[in-house]
Amino acid sequence: MDRLQVCFKLLAELRKINVAIGLMEGCADIVIKRESCISASGTLRFERHIPAGRSRYPQPAGNSQRWFVRAQVFAPFCSRCVYVTFACMNAQPTSRKRIAVIPGDGIGQEVIPQAVKVIQSSGAPVELTDFDWGADRYLRDGVTVPADGFAMLGRDFDAILVGAFGDPRVKTNIHAKEILLGMRFKMDLYANVRPVRLLDAALCPLKGIEPKDIDFVVVRENTEGVYTDAGGIFKQGTPDEIATQEDINTRKGVERIIRYAFQHCERHTKLDGSPRNKVLMCDKSNAMTHAGSLWQRVFKEVSGEYPQITAQHMYVDALCMQMVRDPRQFDVIVTNNMFGDIITDLAAGLQGGLGMAASGNIHPGKTSMFEPVHGSAPPIAGKNVANPFGAILTAAMMLAHLGMTSEAEKIEAAVLEAVRQKKTTQDIGGPLGTIEAGEWVANFVSLA
Ligand code: NAD
Ligand code: IPM
Ligand code: MN
Repeated sequence: MDRLQVCFKLLAELRKINVAIGLMEGCADIVIKRESCISASGTLRFERHIPAGRSRYPQPAGNSQRWFVRAQVFAPFCSRCVYVTFACMNAQPTSRKRIAVIPGDGIGQEVIPQAVKVIQSSGAPVELTDFDWGADRYLRDGVTVPADGFAMLGRDFDAILVGAFGDPRVKTNIHAKEILLGMRFKMDLYANVRPVRLLDAALCPLKGIEPKDIDFVVVRENTEGVYTDAGGIFKQGTPDEIATQEDINTRKGVERIIRYAFQHCERHTKLDGSPRNKVLMCDKSNAMTHAGSLWQRVFKEVSGEYPQITAQHMYVDALCMQMVRDPRQFDVIVTNNMFGDIITDLAAGLQGGLGMAASGNIHPGKTSMFEPVHGSAPPIAGKNVANPFGAILTAAMMLAHLGMTSEAEKIEAAVLEAVRQKKTTQDIGGPLGTIEAGEWVANFVSLA
């Protein structure tokens, strides 16, 4: 079948879904609602358009718009992809989201390519740009973050997908501090949102726990606390040496993260569709009395604005015990930077380990950053054994954040299916490597 025949056959199909007229040339980007693009004879991926004003065809009457679309089409009748360009009636333009991809170090370089592959297989309208920030680059030219790097990310991208930073060759870990904490602090990504979900009972080390029993979210303050690294060392190397590490808690910082947690609770449901209705603030106010006092007062004040949400409190030590004894009780947990770091590794253990945990570093309305909870895991790096699901679920979280909920849901469903069918890496009991597990999910997504 030659190209022209393919085009005519395709056009016959397109007419059925209200896409009309003849072949044209196209340019610029467009994405058309995926549902409207599935025809009986193939999957259409629309890529380009010419705004109607530049068409030599007359405008259609009424509200309908005509776009000139260049489509990459998988045409089963000739078993190959072809490009065709045609005019299209009911299409709505949606701009592609621009994603900066920073795999970083160690297993970050293995899991992020899998997450990218899965994003691409979902058909999500994104444009991905890779950055080589990490240990290799730092060791090569001494650069951690290029000049203007954070401003560029904020200006030129809608979201950032990150792997992990940390490399035994960089003893100071300076690059991780400047890149990872740099993004969080300098881009003011104040809410570190870490969902904790059990996909399959077999993944949980606790007895008698079902997926419905573990579905909570930790909202971690991400720009303050001990992570500000305020303090210093005095009289170093002498018997009188003093090290201080300050815990910085601002009224603004505490208030906005607590409010974020209540808003998250208000706006999100659990996976089974039931509403979220509890926010628990976790601190150590019995020992850290000054910071604790601020958190306690602000929590009381903000919770008063949400009478429909139950406000609870737990000391962080007791919370660790409860998380292991009875994780069913948790819904939304809000806490400071360091406690949030620690309890989310514990919570990852409930989900099947660090390889399963996703996170987003969010400032509503600004370019936000998404990364798996795990680090660069040097002992397992380069062996094709790292679990890519945390990174893949992180990618889904990012797409959902960007409004691509159907793509995100498809990806989450595919990971769930992979877990159920044991198409996983060894850490969670499967026989596959990083690449093979990623490919399985990508294939499942592309067939959805
Ligand atoms: P880690 O999360 O890198 O790994 C701890 C252990 O968990 C690994 O050795 C491995 O056994 C297991 N693990 C982690 N991720 C896994 C995955 N995807 N699949 C299978 N197993 C996995 O924590 P760490 O060893 O404490 O830290 C290593 C380096 O990573 C350090 O330099 C640390 O600072 C850095 N780190 C970076 C980030 C980040 O960039 N977001 C997060 C945590 C740690
Ligand atoms: C995380 C990591 C980081 C943190 C490290 C690498 C600084 O453990 O993202 O959980 O403590 O926040
Ligand atoms: Mn951590």
